[in-house]
Amino acid sequence: MSDTGRVPWIVGVSGASGTPYAAAVVRGLLSAGEDVDLVVSRASRLTILDETGHPFRDAHAEADLRRWLARGADGSPDAFKAEPGADPARVRHWPPGDLAAGPSSGSYPVKGMVIVPASTACVAGVALGLSKDLLQRAASVTLKERRPLVVAVRETPLSGQTLRHLVTLDEAGAVVLPASPAFYAGARHIQDLVDFVAGRVLDAAGVPHQLYRRWEGELGRGGVGPMP
Ligand SMILES: Cc1cc2nc3c(=O)[nH]c(=O)nc-3n(C[C@H](O)[C@H](O)[C@H](O)COP(=O)(O)O)c2cc1C
Repeated sequence: MSDTGRVPWIVGVSGASGTPYAAAVVRGLLSAGEDVDLVVSRASRLTILDETGHPFRDAHAEADLRRWLARGADGSPDAFKAEPGADPARVRHWPPGDLAAGPSSGSYPVKGMVIVPASTACVAGVALGLSKDLLQRAASVTLKERRPLVVAVRETPLSGQTLRHLVTLDEAGAVVLPASPAFYAGARHIQDLVDFVAGRVLDAAGVPHQLYRRWEGELGRGGVGPMP
């Protein structure tokens, strides 16, 4: 594949609970015709294994990603089929220890970055500019280049320390987006709640999608069910 003109979104997956959010965001980006560069932190290999029952291995990244993206939040293994043009083969995967990877430099062309889910350790690392791995380095680069950064933090409750780190990220220009599903969009299934959060991440990135039913100024529709 020629990379000429390729300007991807970086998707960073850190070791917080919520790996179905990451899968939904990657599917949404691919469906919107966006290219994706994926960085899966070392700790998130544990959450992926825990939440999907399957590993994510650098040496088998395409096959493992394909299986992960096909999986529904309720555990069904084949809930999603890749749409034409939205094949996971279009995702470029970078190992988290590869600090020479494209996204580690501001001269590597990207549209921006979403971190989904973002652990509090990741939030701290990005707020403090630690760059302890490629994910944190790519986020620091995104901020210094004044590109969009969306941080879908997942922890509860939040310590004062994390709250201060989140303020730092907000002041640096990031969108802090707690992974907190809403119920006004008529959620009936776990996937609806996941897709709401993923849809809000894509909203913050300015990427079009139809993952959840938007509020239309009419009370009572939360009981009507999600989008047809
Ligand atoms: C099963 C599991 C679930 C976890 N869930 C969370 C979580 O929801 N939020 C969080 O901030 N950390 C969570 N952690 C802890 C992080 O994985 C840990 O802080 C790790 O150092 C994060 O590293 P990373 O940001 O480089 O991915 C979890 C760990 C495990 C093993």
